[in-house]
Amino acid sequence: MAQINPSILSADFARLADEAEAVRGSDWLHVDVMDNHFVPNLTLGVPVVESLARATDIPLDLHLMIEDPDRWAPQYVEAGAGSVTFHVEAAAAPVRLAREIRAKGARASMALKPGTPIEPYEDLLPELDMLLIMTVEPGFGGQAFLDIMLPKIRRTRELIAKHDLELWLQVDGGVSASTIERCAEAGADVFVAGSAVYGAEDPAEAVRKLRDLADQASADAWWACGH
Ligand code: DX5
Ligand code: ZN
Repeated sequence: MAQINPSILSADFARLADEAEAVRGSDWLHVDVMDNHFVPNLTLGVPVVESLARATDIPLDLHLMIEDPDRWAPQYVEAGAGSVTFHVEAAAAPVRLAREIRAKGARASMALKPGTPIEPYEDLLPELDMLLIMTVEPGFGGQAFLDIMLPKIRRTRELIAKHDLELWLQVDGGVSASTIERCAEAGADVFVAGSAVYGAEDPAEAVRKLRDLADQASADAWWACGH
């Protein structure tokens, strides 16, 4: 079944516990950490993640858009994250970092910006629990979905099948009721949605609707047969 991870980037940062409650039933809560260096935006850090982890039962899916994740990512595991995603463009030693995240007890995930190809990382995929393909340039919510990323999603799903991996394939950026089916058909199974969830009148209902659309779209897809 498709997983929907609402992004709190589009939530009210002064009411994070309530905003988590508003998406009860979600698989994960997606938390965007930005440092104003890797991306031109600044959000939150370890203390806020610690508080949020105490305030909600929904596991936290951390997306680190920061320089030097080798140094900082382990602290987010200790802060209570269930999954930590670092950007390969920023990591000095991605294999060592993925192993460290796993050893500390979280799922390890690696993100690719739109201009970063998947092919150089084929041999590295067994070290990961999830791969994140950005479908916008990271930094801001509410941007338009980049259709040109669909072939990369498809090729990544083919690599997952080729190596018979238990790897989740996440997409993030511009995911909405009008784009989620294309992502699911191409091979994504974890969907981040910020504005499409928190911009809706009923965020929990928006999550259910997105999950239904993704499930229907992937049901007949070649990659999901036998799932
Ligand atoms: C953007 C962030 C996303 C953002 C997505 O850099 O990584 O998680 O919240 O927002 P939407 O779904 O509005 O594109
Ligand atoms: Zn994100």
